[in-house]
Amino acid sequence: MNRPKALATRPLFPAARAILDASFDVDYWPVQDKIPRAELLRRIAGCDALICLLTEKIDDELLAAAPKLRIVSTVSVGYDHIDVPACTRRNVMVTNTPGVLDDTTADLAWALLMAVARRVVEGDAWMRTGGWPGWELDQLLGGDVHGKTLGVIGFGRIGRGVARRSLGFQMKVLYHDSARVPAEIERELCAEFVPLERLLRDSDFVTLHVPLTDGTRHLISTSTLNQMKSTAYLINTSRGPVVDEAALAQALNEKKIAGAALDVYENEPRVHPALLARRDVVLEPHIGSASIETRTKMAVMAATNAAEFFAGRRPPNALNADALRK
Ligand code: DGY
Repeated sequence: MNRPKALATRPLFPAARAILDASFDVDYWPVQDKIPRAELLRRIAGCDALICLLTEKIDDELLAAAPKLRIVSTVSVGYDHIDVPACTRRNVMVTNTPGVLDDTTADLAWALLMAVARRVVEGDAWMRTGGWPGWELDQLLGGDVHGKTLGVIGFGRIGRGVARRSLGFQMKVLYHDSARVPAEIERELCAEFVPLERLLRDSDFVTLHVPLTDGTRHLISTSTLNQMKSTAYLINTSRGPVVDEAALAQALNEKKIAGAALDVYENEPRVHPALLARRDVVLEPHIGSASIETRTKMAVMAATNAAEFFAGRRPPNALNADALRK
């Protein structure tokens, strides 16, 4: 019997390959660099399954080039790179990898928060110049973290993870989301549900954990930045376009806020040049989920989603299963 064909846009990890190889004839893009678009369109032509990353745009053009495609399994929780309605129209299942990266991403958000407030990256860079003259009273003064107010925008699994980490720092937690979480979660995390305006006005740290949608694009803009404290810091580990980078650079320039720490960018891999030049901004290359353990789990999950589907079962993390033709 002919086995289904899959394209994996990276070599993945041995544990994920073992799952895929047991169910598919797999064409692995052989290197850990982005597959060129033309190559992706060429290789997808006869495939039944696609295992992809968030850097690959899955749109009508790609779907048209893949008439046999039945499933797109992304190795990411975010799926704003996939035109899900277009997939549904063509009866293509879409799956993602929720849950396994929550704590790893919350860890990174916390690292960014600490780094920007306590100027850790600036200090490291200074030491490496060999130019540190020794201890001085007013060197690299930052902002305290303990006892401050943390504002979490988007109180899903990752946002709550960041709130949980703040408990050890005796912080007050404000959160904003489209709906309140159950009272026991608010109690456990000592978190108060507030309107966005209040969160922006009262928080010392504003951390973003929303998906990218039409409603969240440029949620952080000149208008929202103007509502923040001049001593506050912005942390973004969600999606770059949630922040208007030009507005952020201007707000920092005008000292409307004290600093920012970013793991994601509006036009990845490009970073707004005005941000690159600033010392009050910590920049990381989209490494929120980048631990060996978590990236392995994500790849295994994506492989399992595809394999389960071709075994005739509903994949554990199907995004559009109910909308597909039976
Ligand atoms: C995701 O999964 O969407 C993250 O941005 C990368 O892990």
